Amino acid sequence: MSEVILKCDRLTMRFGGLTAVRDFSIEIKEHMIFGLIGPNGAGKTTAFNMITGNLKPTEGRIYFYGQDITGLKPYKIVSLGMARTFQNIRLFSNLSVLENVLTGFHHKLKYNLIDAILRTPRFYKYENQMKEEGMALLESVRLADKANFRASELPYGERRKVEIARALATGPKLLLLDEPAAGMNPQETLDLMYFIQEIKDKFNLTIFLIEHDMKFVMNLCETIAVLDHGVKIAEGKPEEIRTNPDVIKAYLGDINA
Ligand SMILES: Nc1ncnc2c1ncn2[C@@H]1O[C@H](COP(=O)(O)OP(=O)(O)OP(=O)(O)O)[C@@H](O)[C@H]1O
Ligand SMILES: [Mg+2]
Repeated sequence: MSEVILKCDRLTMRFGGLTAVRDFSIEIKEHMIFGLIGPNGAGKTTAFNMITGNLKPTEGRIYFYGQDITGLKPYKIVSLGMARTFQNIRLFSNLSVLENVLTGFHHKLKYNLIDAILRTPRFYKYENQMKEEGMALLESVRLADKANFRASELPYGERRKVEIARALATGPKLLLLDEPAAGMNPQETLDLMYFIQEIKDKFNLTIFLIEHDMKFVMNLCETIAVLDHGVKIAEGKPEEIRTNPDVIKAYLGDINA
């Protein structure tokens, strides 16, 4: 039996009078690819923001490998082994592709400020080691040849991969991807599907993703949860979700039309 890596227990997020997410509960087992779908404004990103510590839930608890992480700061949650990408790509556009990936190593720096200022041997040792690790990550996302490009020079699909490489640099066990295929053409989307499967196996990951592209979600995810107006209206295997009348009414009807 595989272990539950993430458990959300009745998460609720209220913004003033608006309840963006209400009583959201899920359990994700290790090594799964778990999908979260639903119409615009359903509360999907808000759910991610609570899980990753970007928002403190109004109610409910979040457990990561059984540990209660509710309300912990994002960097703390990253250090426990959870990483994410954002719906709107967040890269340092003036930094190189490699430098962007290196920012992912930030929390595990093994030299201190004095080492950095005095440029001690210890500083150079770890600096070089990190560059090597960063290049290895870029190899695995097939962007090593663009390591010295500025992030802003890359096309959209490749910027998404840089963001994923940076997330991988933090050494996650659980990777959350918020609409990874957004803005991609059908070929790029197909490539991304294989890519996600590949990094999942290579880095031994569990993946939790939000996506509007149904072909992508249905082909990639083993289990899918559906949010509508902040409420989980269904959860199940792709085939169960595809044929669920409530889901068709709330979401898939529009998409398939
Ligand atoms: N920080 C915030 N303050 C106030 N309201 C917010 C905040 N973040 C999200 N909301 C609101 O919460 C609701 C859910 O938003 P959310 O971004 O989670 O939806 P979503 O399912 O990710 O939608 P999309 O598919 O468009 O990305 C929306 O009505 C949104 O306007
Ligand atoms: Mg969103």
